[in-house]
Amino acid sequence: MTSEPIVTAPRHQRDWDQYSRLAAESFGGDHRDLTCHRSRGPAAVAVVDDEVIGGAVALRAHQFFGGSAVPTGCVADVCVRPEWRGRGVARRVIDTLMDRTRADGGVLSTLWTPATGVYRRWGWEVAGLGRRWSVPARGLRSLPAAPGDVVPGFTEPARELQRDLARAWDGPLRRPSWWWDWKYSDSEHRCYTLVVGGEPQGLLGVRVRPVEPWGQDLVVSDFWARDTASGRALLRFLGGFGSMAHTVHFDTGTLANLPALVWELPQHELREQGWYPWMLRLLDIPAALESRGWPRTVTGRLDLAITGPAAQRLVLEVADGRAVTSPGGTGAVALSPGQLAAWYAGTLDPPALTRSLGPLDDGIVELMGMLTRRTEVWLPDVF
Ligand SMILES: CC(C)(COP(=O)(O)OP(=O)(O)OC[C@H]1O[C@@H](n2cnc3c(N)ncnc32)[C@H](O)[C@@H]1OP(=O)(O)O)[C@@H](O)C(=O)NCCC(=O)NCCS
Repeated sequence: MTSEPIVTAPRHQRDWDQYSRLAAESFGGDHRDLTCHRSRGPAAVAVVDDEVIGGAVALRAHQFFGGSAVPTGCVADVCVRPEWRGRGVARRVIDTLMDRTRADGGVLSTLWTPATGVYRRWGWEVAGLGRRWSVPARGLRSLPAAPGDVVPGFTEPARELQRDLARAWDGPLRRPSWWWDWKYSDSEHRCYTLVVGGEPQGLLGVRVRPVEPWGQDLVVSDFWARDTASGRALLRFLGGFGSMAHTVHFDTGTLANLPALVWELPQHELREQGWYPWMLRLLDIPAALESRGWPRTVTGRLDLAITGPAAQRLVLEVADGRAVTSPGGTGAVALSPGQLAAWYAGTLDPPALTRSLGPLDDGIVELMGMLTRRTEVWLPDVF
């Protein structure tokens, strides 16, 4: 008789090895050795007869919302052996992983997934779509000149620049220090910093992909510019690869939803390719509400009734850019954990709120819109 799986943190190197092999089988290709995540956040594996049959990790990071960095667990590499699927293994792995993430201080959890239905059941909701863009390389060469020198490498001030720029959006990670080594330690990736007057003003992460019968494409994985001129300088730099490179691909997440490229290109040859979405869950609702930033100019109170297995009533009071919550209230705004997550992320504008939540007092809809629709939602970080 086959035993019931036990769900545990990986106990030793063998569990990590088996989990890595399972991830490789599940996601295809040369999956990386997941042991590198050992100290990067909680992990959980399902084990039967000493064999790993499922697993997931939650990378420890912070996610910017309203200008504040909120502790989050970035869920990745969720997989279950095919013969064990549909038997509740992933649910148990995720439950354990989220308990550990909460214990680790995480109040949010975010993930990229095509399996939206699976995670929606557990309280995540879609916050944004991944997108890829591509543009002919040669066209970038003709952009007007912009000041600055592009030099190899990301210095610490350049990483600080990335952090500063990321803070202006809702959704980007405040990348942990290991992020850069993780993403850029292989020999394929090159990093560049744009320096103007001795100060970093932009960053570029790029790799070259050979194309048959000759030439290459460029795949950009980080594109950060302080302003329009800095962006132009980086684009012209990419255009400099045009003698060999046919196309510049901006990989998933690399550009925001309406990329500044549309204001730069003299000819609209930007192609968009959809990717799958990212989803958000509030693991600790009061702490998540209190630890994000709120608009300084908006003061108001919402009486929330959160539905579902952990139903609760909560009063949210916002003033001076901060929020305080307390249990109770009238529960005038009834919403599911998923709807709450989508609103928190800034994904629901007032018409979408009305469609999603049903008829609500106009004043409440306007307040909800003003509270979370100030900044564009964008997750540039893929994990
Ligand atoms: C996705 C995956 C991890 C699910 O594992 P699992 O052990 O079969 O999942 P569970 O049995 O715990 O089912 C979880 C819930 O999702 C539902 N579900 C499972 N697969 C689903 C699917 N493809 N679409 C919609 N719902 C699904 C189940 O009905 C269940 O709902 P319930 O909790 O209300 O009963 C597994 O199919 C897998 O490893 N797939 C390949 C890798 C992958 O796609 N990973 C996720 C990408 S981020």
